[in-house]
Amino acid sequence: MRHPKRGHNLPLFKPLTIAITMSVAEFLNRPLPIAYGHQTLRNRVALAPMAGMTDVPFRTLAWRFGAGHMVSEMVTSKPELWDTGKSRARRVLISEVRPQAVQIAGHDPATMAESARRLTGEGVEWVDLNFGCPAKKVCRKAAGSALLANIDQISRIVAAVVSAVDVPVSIKTRTGLSLEDSAGTEAAIAAQEAGAQLVVMHGRSRACRFKGHACPDRVREARRLLRVPLLVNGDIVDDASAEQALKSSGADGVMLGRGAMGQPWIFAEFLGLEMPTSAERFDFIREHLDAMHSFYGEDAGVRIARKHIQAYLQRWGTPQWTGDFMGLTSAQQQHAWLLARREQMLLHAAINTSQPKAAA
Ligand SMILES: Cc1cc2nc3c(=O)[nH]c(=O)nc-3n(C[C@H](O)[C@H](O)[C@H](O)COP(=O)(O)O)c2cc1C
Repeated sequence: MRHPKRGHNLPLFKPLTIAITMSVAEFLNRPLPIAYGHQTLRNRVALAPMAGMTDVPFRTLAWRFGAGHMVSEMVTSKPELWDTGKSRARRVLISEVRPQAVQIAGHDPATMAESARRLTGEGVEWVDLNFGCPAKKVCRKAAGSALLANIDQISRIVAAVVSAVDVPVSIKTRTGLSLEDSAGTEAAIAAQEAGAQLVVMHGRSRACRFKGHACPDRVREARRLLRVPLLVNGDIVDDASAEQALKSSGADGVMLGRGAMGQPWIFAEFLGLEMPTSAERFDFIREHLDAMHSFYGEDAGVRIARKHIQAYLQRWGTPQWTGDFMGLTSAQQQHAWLLARREQMLLHAAINTSQPKAAA
C-alpha cells in the first residue's frame, strides 16, 4: 500500500513563476503553500542554514526582519552526539518562528528517522534533510552531498523520516555531483516520491564546493519535473540577483545565506518593507551582541561574536576596525568597544550611503 504521506497523493502544486510585470518584492511577499495540513510559509524568501553562523541569535533577528522560512544549522543524526553542547544549542527552538524547523545530516535511514522522531518530540514542526553539504567531515561519513552518488539511499532516508514523523519533511541539495550530471534533480524527484514537501537547490554541484558562480539555470529542470515547491539558492545577494535566479530557474522562491551575514535586515529589503535607519541598525547590532553573550555564555559568546561583528563592520564599510575587535576578550569589553564607536559609525554611514559590499 502506498504511504499516505508520500508524493503520489500530493495535490498538484501550481508553481507561480515570477511574471515579467511583477516586482521581485511582490513575488517574494506571496505566501508559499505547502501540501501538508494546509501549511503555508509566510513568504518566499528564506534564510539558508549556515553552521556556525545562522544560530539562534541570528535567526531571531532574521525572522524579525521578515525571513519567511529558516531551518537550524545542521545537527548530526548520530545518537552519541545528541547531548553535546553544540547539538543542544543547534536544537534550541525560537518561540516566535513558524514552522520550527531543524536540519539533520546523516546517512542511515533508521538513525535519521529516530533523530526526526526525537526532534518532533522536542517540539520541532518541520524536518529538513541535508543532501548538499560538501564538507569532508560530512561526506566521509557518506552524508550530505556524498548521498548524491546514491539516489536509492536518499529515497530510503526520506521515506524512513516521512514515515517516522507527522510534520513536513524537506530536502536541501545541490545540482549534482559535478556540473555535468543531474543527480540533484534525480534526488529531488526521489525525495518528492518518498514524501518530501519542499526542495531547496543550491545552483552549484558538489565538485564546485563554493567556487565559481552559482548556476540557477541548472535548477530549472528540477522545477519543471517537480510537483512540490522549490527554492533556489546560491549567490543571491540583492534584488537583481534574486530576479535573475528566479527567472532562470523558474523557482517558487529564494533562499539566501552569505548575503544575509552582517545584514539580517536584508529580508526587509527583499520584501520591500521599511528598512531600519543607521541608528536602528546600530542598535540591532548591539542587541545581537547581547544575545550571543547570553545564549552561549561569555566565553563562547565572545568568540562567536567576532565572526558576526566582522561581518557587520565589513558591511558598514569599516573593515579596518575588525582587528581591534578581535583582540577583545570579555563581553564587557566588546560592548564598550562597540558603544564607543557609535558616533563614528553613524557618521560613516551618513557620508557613505552606498550599499555595503557582499560579505566573503
Ligand atoms: C559557513 C557556512 C556554513 C554552512 N552550513 C550549512 C548547513 O549547516 N547546512 C546546509 O544545508 N548548508 C550549509 N551551508 C550552505 C548554505 O546553506 C548555502 O547553500 C550556500 O552558502 C550557498 O548560498 P549563498 O550563496 O546564499 O550563501 C553553509 C554555507 C556556509 C558558507
